[in-house]
Amino acid sequence: MGSIRQHVNPLGRFFQRPLALPSLANVFPEPQQPLHLDIGCARGHFLMEMATLYPQRNHLGLEIRRPLVERAEAQRQQHQLDNLHYLFCNVTVSLASLTCQLAPAQLQLVTIQFPDPWFKRKHHKRRLLQPPMANTLATAMAPGALLFLQSDVRLLMEEMTALLHAQGSFIRQKPDWWPENPLPVATERERHVLTRGLPVWRACFHRRSPIDQGATMGT
Ligand SMILES: C[S@@+](CC[C@H](N)C(=O)[O-])C[C@H]1O[C@@H](n2cnc3c(N)ncnc32)[C@H](O)[C@@H]1O
Repeated sequence: MGSIRQHVNPLGRFFQRPLALPSLANVFPEPQQPLHLDIGCARGHFLMEMATLYPQRNHLGLEIRRPLVERAEAQRQQHQLDNLHYLFCNVTVSLASLTCQLAPAQLQLVTIQFPDPWFKRKHHKRRLLQPPMANTLATAMAPGALLFLQSDVRLLMEEMTALLHAQGSFIRQKPDWWPENPLPVATERERHVLTRGLPVWRACFHRRSPIDQGATMGT
């Protein structure tokens, strides 16, 4: 089994090329089902468990490290899970063209878990959640849909939550930091962090619905 790079630079020229992505209608036998999108899914174990628990949803994992996606897809085929798919792509380049295929109420759950922190200031522009991605999610997510973020880097979480607040289409759910994961499955990184007794910072947002518009202040 070959080694897999820990990080790739999403701003590298190769990863900036838009890929020819498949139509979601061709990858899921029931393409009209609600969709869960896991952004930066790595080996995809979290999503495989979620797909088993929630057969009435489709689950799509997006990941920039191609060997991980190929292995995850092979495992998915072994388990014969039709409501699960993994795609190799740079999310910052491909998310808009993927989500514009969806029906308005379809994107019900988005998870961004332990995104790479890219600590050096000059590398901050490589981070996953940037204003254009927040805008794409706001456009694509169904009213009331859940956006779940978690990380062991508090500063990164503070920046991401501030960005979503500024974007204006998301309502943060109380409590501000969730002590427990509201989802029934922990990711690999989450298990690793918790095993070492380190804290995890978690935040939940709902996509605003038209009736929330009057209550936009202070949320
Ligand atoms: C620290 S890992 C966390 C993996 C998993 N979510 C977990 O919690 O165990 C972050 C993942 O995001 C992926 N990633 C980073 N930037 C990406 C991008 N622009 N597009 C797609 N995946 C990306 C990385 O390759 C890596 O697998």
